[in-house]
This record gives sequence, C-alpha cells and structure tokens, in this order.
Amino acid sequence: MLNLSPSPRNRLYTDLNSYTEFLGYVLGGKFINSKKDIERFEHELRVRFNSRYAVCVSQCRVGIYFAVKALIKPGQEVIMSPYTIADVINMVIFAGGRPVFADLDRETCNIAATEVEHLINANTGAVLITHLHGVAAEAHRIKEICDRSNIPMIEDCAQSFGVEEQGKPVATIGDVGIFSLEMHKNLPTWRGGVVITERDDVMELIEKESKNFSTSPLPLISAKVKSGIKHDLVTSPVFFPFVYPILRYSMLKDVEVINKSTQRKPQESQAASELPDVYKSYYTSFQARIGLSQLKEVDANIEKRIEYGRMYHEGLKDIEGLILPPLRSDKSITYLWYPLQCPDREVLRLFMFEQGRDIALGHFINNADTATFEQYYRDCPNARAVADGLVYLPTYPSYSRRDVEKNIEVIKLYFSTQAKQVKPQEVKPQEVLVSG
Ligand SMILES: Cc1ncc(COP(=O)(O)O)c(C=O)c1O
Repeated sequence: MLNLSPSPRNRLYTDLNSYTEFLGYVLGGKFINSKKDIERFEHELRVRFNSRYAVCVSQCRVGIYFAVKALIKPGQEVIMSPYTIADVINMVIFAGGRPVFADLDRETCNIAATEVEHLINANTGAVLITHLHGVAAEAHRIKEICDRSNIPMIEDCAQSFGVEEQGKPVATIGDVGIFSLEMHKNLPTWRGGVVITERDDVMELIEKESKNFSTSPLPLISAKVKSGIKHDLVTSPVFFPFVYPILRYSMLKDVEVINKSTQRKPQESQAASELPDVYKSYYTSFQARIGLSQLKEVDANIEKRIEYGRMYHEGLKDIEGLILPPLRSDKSITYLWYPLQCPDREVLRLFMFEQGRDIALGHFINNADTATFEQYYRDCPNARAVADGLVYLPTYPSYSRRDVEKNIEVIKLYFSTQAKQVKPQEVKPQEVLVSG
C-alpha cells in the first residue's frame, strides 16, 4: 500500500538547546559582552584541527572574504567554482579579486584539478576550492598544483565539517579553510562561520578588519530562528504526516504557490563593489555555547550519513543514466545529502511524490551562466549539467534506514518503467521528429 507518511526531505540539526540559548540571549545575554565561551569554542576547534588559529566569524562567506583579502593583491584572479552561492562570488569581488570559473568534475560536483592547472597564470592570486555536499575536492592534488606556482589555496568547507582527505581534515590542507555554522549545516549555531589557518597574515587581517564590525547580529539571527521554528515544526513527526499529503497534492497538481514556498531558492546576489555593512557583524557567546554542545554530536551524525550514503550507492549503482558520487571507504565523503544526478529530474521527483516519497532538487545554479556575473562568463558545461540534473536524497541522522530503502526501491521502479517506455522499437518515427 502507498505510504503517505514518509520522513521529510530535510531536518535541521538544531535542538532544544539551540532555542533556549537564543531565548537567553534575547532576554539579556545580548548585553553581556564576555568572549569567554567564544574562546572556549575556538580552543576546542583548534585542538580538533590541530591548527594555530580557529576564529569564529559572523558567516562563512565573511570568512571567505577575509581569506581572499589577506591572500591576494587587488585585481588578481581567483579560480573558483561557479556552482556555489552567488554571495561567495560576491565576497571574492568585494575582497578585490576577479572570479575565474573553473568547470566541475561531474561525479564530485567540485572543481576539476585539470581545470585549475589549465587556468593558472601570472595574474592568479588564489584558488578557492569548494568541498560540496560533504565531498572532498581533490584538495591534495590541487594544493600540489598551487604550490608549483606559489599560489595560496583557500578551502570553502561550508558543507563539509568533519570531512577528511588522506586522513587530513578539510580546512587544514590549504592555506585557509572556512566552515559554515549556519542552521542548515551539520554544526549549526544559527549563523556563523569559523576560519582555520596557520597563517599569521590571515589572522592579522581578520583582527584588523573585524575591529570595525559593529552591525548587531540579533535581527539576522532572529530571522534564522524564525525560519528554524517553522522548519522544525512542519517537519516534526507530529505535524509532518498532516503536512505531507498537502505537499504531495500540490506537487501532483502543480500548485505553484505551495511548490515554490517549499523549495530552497538560489540566494539573491548583492550588487555592491565592497563589503556592505550588513555583513559587518560579529559572532556571539550564546552561539559559541551552542557550538560546544553541537560538537558532541557531530561525529556520530557523520557516521550515520556515511552509512546512508553507502546504502544509496549500493542500491543505485547499477542503474544506467545516473551519475553517483564516488564511493570511498574513508571520510573523504560524508554525504551532507546524497547528490544524485539524473536526466529529467522533475519527472523523477514527480514520480517519487506519486509513490509517496519526499525529496528535493538541488537548488544551486551555474553562476557562470547568469547575467549577474556576465563579465566573468566562462563556458562550464559540467557545472551546467550538474545544475540541471542534481537531486538531493536525504541522509540526515534521524532519517530511517527504511526510508532510504524506500527511496532506492522507488528510483529503481522509475527507471525500470522508463526503460520499458523508451525501448527503441516502440518509438514511432513521427515521435522522433517531434522530440528532435
Ligand atoms: C558552498 C557554500 N559556501 C559558502 C556558504 C556560505 O555559508 P554562510 O551562510 O555561513 O555564509 C554556503 C552556504 O550555504 C555554501 O553552501
């Protein structure tokens, strides 16, 4: 029988402590300016990453801004992925860099080392790699390429806390690494980021610039908390069984307002030439206390996601036409989601909803093709294909093995039905003309 109560496509890693700490901050904590808990959190992170510096900042993207600004000369090129949030590209521009988009490796969805090698020239100031979906981005190989030309490598680790490559944590392979502590990530403190580095010059720039950062974080954190409450309630085991039939109905009947409101959107771009004031905010003690508590859970959660990722791989590896992330036996892939690529992803999603499943499509776009970054256009066919084909299969820790198995069964059913529909002898010549 059709199960109309699947687990939701996504659940946050927030917990009761995330809310009570926020409440404490609103009710008086914002007047207490102690840095003690931030220092404790930074100390824990330094120990974890065995790094000289770990410094909390208001957002990962602001950490990226600091890193680029510290490491390049104004006007230099920064080789980077076009398949990221627009604001990361903005940060490179605000920091004085000129983005140069490198195409992706189709399997990892990260920039290809060969592209980096090809794009480095005398005006390259830095290479910014992104470890997307919890998949390490050939960091050692790219670092070697950078070292040959004496170019610093920055790691955008927003989606990859806990990922390791060749036994080394991401964020410690290049010159600087930055994690996101935003609420959708796996070490969430509502907002925030942490910069990991060995370099004194990066640390000095952060200290110098952030002295002038005084925008109150409260309105921005409150907006996250509001959205977190909504998300946590709607996806809770109490309410989701009532919510899902509405989601399913609107998907099957194409009710645009509901469908649109439940999709994560690519972020709006900020039109500016230097860092706008809204980013000049700071990290707070209550967030650090949440981080300290979240650190206790993070590794167990990663283990669970790796288990689910491997189940998806085993279940889907023989289906023709799918592109799966690579299977690895170490921690170089931790599956923040299981990123599956397939043709006609909207049709697959519709089928999954018909069969009572809840999944999401990838919401990043290929920024190399957008009007916003027209002046940096570069043909990146793999990034375009990834943006068109990516589906997120859930791997969050409270998701059940049964749900993973169900997703696999339904995807297999979809492809076996499709295979029957498109057997060459069944296609009439007229149809070939129309579809061609
Ligand atoms: C790949 C990537 N880089 C950077 C960021 C920015 O993180 P933050 O929101 O903490 O600035 C994100 C956020 O979603 C991201 O996915």
